[in-house]
Amino acid sequence: MSVNKIAPTLVAAAVATVLAAGSVQAANEASAAGTAKAAPPALAPLGEAPIPPDNKSTPDKVELGKMLFFDPRVGGDASTGCSTCHEPDQGWAWAEDFSRGYPGTVHWRNSQSIINSAYFPRQFWAGSASSNEKQAKAAAKGGVAGNGEDDIMEARMAVIPEYRERFKKVFGTEWPLIDDVWLAISAFERTMNTTGKYEVPLDKYLKGDKSALDEQQVRGMALFNGKAGCINCHNGSLATDLDYHNIGIPPNKRWEEDGLAQVTFRFEQYAKGQTEEGYRAAKSDWGFYYRSKNKWDRGKFRTAPLRYIEYTAPYMHNGVFYTLEEVVDFYNAGGVDEEGRTTLFPENKSKLIKPLGLSDEEKEDLVAFLGAFSGPEITMEKPKQPPYAPLFTKAELEAAQEEK
Ligand code: HEC
Ligand code: HEC
Repeated sequence: MSVNKIAPTLVAAAVATVLAAGSVQAANEASAAGTAKAAPPALAPLGEAPIPPDNKSTPDKVELGKMLFFDPRVGGDASTGCSTCHEPDQGWAWAEDFSRGYPGTVHWRNSQSIINSAYFPRQFWAGSASSNEKQAKAAAKGGVAGNGEDDIMEARMAVIPEYRERFKKVFGTEWPLIDDVWLAISAFERTMNTTGKYEVPLDKYLKGDKSALDEQQVRGMALFNGKAGCINCHNGSLATDLDYHNIGIPPNKRWEEDGLAQVTFRFEQYAKGQTEEGYRAAKSDWGFYYRSKNKWDRGKFRTAPLRYIEYTAPYMHNGVFYTLEEVVDFYNAGGVDEEGRTTLFPENKSKLIKPLGLSDEEKEDLVAFLGAFSGPEITMEKPKQPPYAPLFTKAELEAAQEEK
């Protein structure tokens, strides 16, 4: 997904965030090293999703956004829309290590779930979009995702009478505007949260319902907050510090073995402004580096939020782990997989990641606790795609002809 079209002001803001994130990281690692130990914020229940003042939510906007989210005509050849890679019955994500891509490509990263995405001020695995609106635009246009072209997508909206009517009602425009597509989709996404009837057991527990977790999960929670140290990064109401860390994820072998994956991998190096040397030599995803261009950010990714993970396997930015048991084994071994592989940038690996010495029973308790981050599955009937119609009826055209 292309990030090379961000406006200069956004770049400045992004740089500021990068600097802030770097210093938080430095402080965290300093405290981990034993100096000035500050306790991380405790896990807290998820609040209401924030709604930005420049994209207020209305039921009509949400309904339109839902239709557009499921409509592949928001994309290049009308085959690959948002829901194509964010399938409701695959956790609103895609259940393979790498996401499927635009026809003729595979993606290079694991598809993230859209569930709870509204809460994240920085989206994507390496935080390259700063809102749902910017994310949606990048997704629909990115070469290995939607690969859409603004004018074509806008023209399609214009010849779908139901959309014309709905855009007019919601945005007051005579003709649908492409930027309003991103607003509507974002309004829909902001309703897709693990709140209300989809509240997760952990949140119920944290709000006082002690029956929401069983004994094993309560033991797992103690490990999460203590011996296993997960709370150092997965903390607060979002279960993430929103910071970037290298936890030791090894490269996905498909980059060595699969031609299509290799094509996308090289394309992304190029699109993300990699150096000539890096473009030729890179063998793994450099993550946050592509934004900061600092070598100490190689292999760092946004701490993943943990809610709804029961439905979103496989895990990590490159989908290398298929089960939560594997994830816990990886952390227990100090950020090393079962074949002894780790990040290609061990110099950047977080000092918070180290062998944990968990017994088999403790590992099971921790996995059981991770289950408490997921509640009921969020399902919905896919909306019908409204049909195209000619802009003018035959009679209107004939009348116009006669006037001439
Ligand atoms: C071809 C597959 C594909 C398509 C099409 C696609 N996505 Fe994605 N989506 C992904 C992948 C893969 C990621 C992670 C990419 C990354 O981090 O670089 C992602 C990330 C996201 C995220 C970030 C979630 C987070 O936690 O930060 C959101 C939100 C999202 N997509 C919404 C959308 C919307 C809206 C559309 C339609 C306009 C869309 N996607 C189209 C595959 C796709
Ligand atoms: C140093 C910070 C840090 C610590 C400590 C940490 N994590 Fe993570 N966690 C991350 C980051 C960063 C990612 C995303 C890594 C990537 O994709 O490369 C992640 C990803 C995950 C994922 C995958 C989620 C998904 O949607 O793919 C799970 C599950 C997880 N962590 C659980 C845990 C558990 C359990 C512990 C404690 C044993 C733990 N984490 C400790 C930072 C941390």
